[in-house]
Amino acid sequence: MTDILNLPASNVTGKRVLITGGASGIGAASALLLASRGAKVVIGDMNEELGASIARQGVDAGNSITFKKVDVTNGDEVRALFHFAMKELGGLDVVINNAGIDHNPKPMHELSDDDFDRSIAVNLKGVWHCMRAAVACMAGSGGGHVINVASIAGLRSAPLLSAYSASKHGVMGLTKSAAHEYARVNIRFNAVCPSFIDTPMVQNTMAKMDERAQKATINASPLRRLGKVEEVSSAIAWLASDESSFMNGHAFTLDGGMLA
Ligand code: NAI
Repeated sequence: MTDILNLPASNVTGKRVLITGGASGIGAASALLLASRGAKVVIGDMNEELGASIARQGVDAGNSITFKKVDVTNGDEVRALFHFAMKELGGLDVVINNAGIDHNPKPMHELSDDDFDRSIAVNLKGVWHCMRAAVACMAGSGGGHVINVASIAGLRSAPLLSAYSASKHGVMGLTKSAAHEYARVNIRFNAVCPSFIDTPMVQNTMAKMDERAQKATINASPLRRLGKVEEVSSAIAWLASDESSFMNGHAFTLDGGMLA
């Protein structure tokens, strides 16, 4: 048996990490936390102002974070982002596909083509663009770990958010299939599936709800509160460490017990 008392503590020091959607919410918290623990981080996001500001916050704290603008719906821009990250970091150990959008809550038959297409383009095809680029970078260099930020809406129904839910179920399909396909080149794929987390995305959605719906959203978890970004980013930081090394193809739920 391995000498269990001498295993190194979970850490991400020196890990080379690329995170999309790192300008806000879960992505920003994860980028700052990973960098504060010694990872070298590149943020890709379409929001240039916020992305540059998060990178500056990390650098001001003495950590390594760089920002590059990307729209994950554009395959060429995603390739350029990965090229940039490979040059900047000298390789990639962990890729966190977190960029995503929600849509206005509506019954499924009232969704417009645009609502549906946009959810799929950002949340599903955007993740696929990044998974494809990650494999190209990692396959020839010993492997790595791809962490997709899906949602509990990728595991169960999400009434009035059907296009969002469909996109996140798609991310689960990509995650599980890729976990089988690329284990032979030592690339692992896992998904994080949060319930409602207190971020600008959720605040924006809740602002469109009446008081009853807002309360129902908060009370959907047995813990009767929204999750905090730091509760998701610390789970992501553990996943990014070598302690998660036998986890592959898994949906890691962070939902305060909602699915229990
Ligand atoms: P957020 O709105 O705070 O952050 C999302 C980030 O993604 C923003 O910085 C935005 O500029 C970026 N982004 C959006 N479209 C993009 C594109 N086409 N290209 C590049 N960047 C783009 O949202 P939050 O809540 O932090 O969400 C992060 C991820 O977590 C999303 O994938 C979301 O679906 C997922 N999630 C969030 C939950 C929540 O309750 N907040 C629950 C479950 C999943």
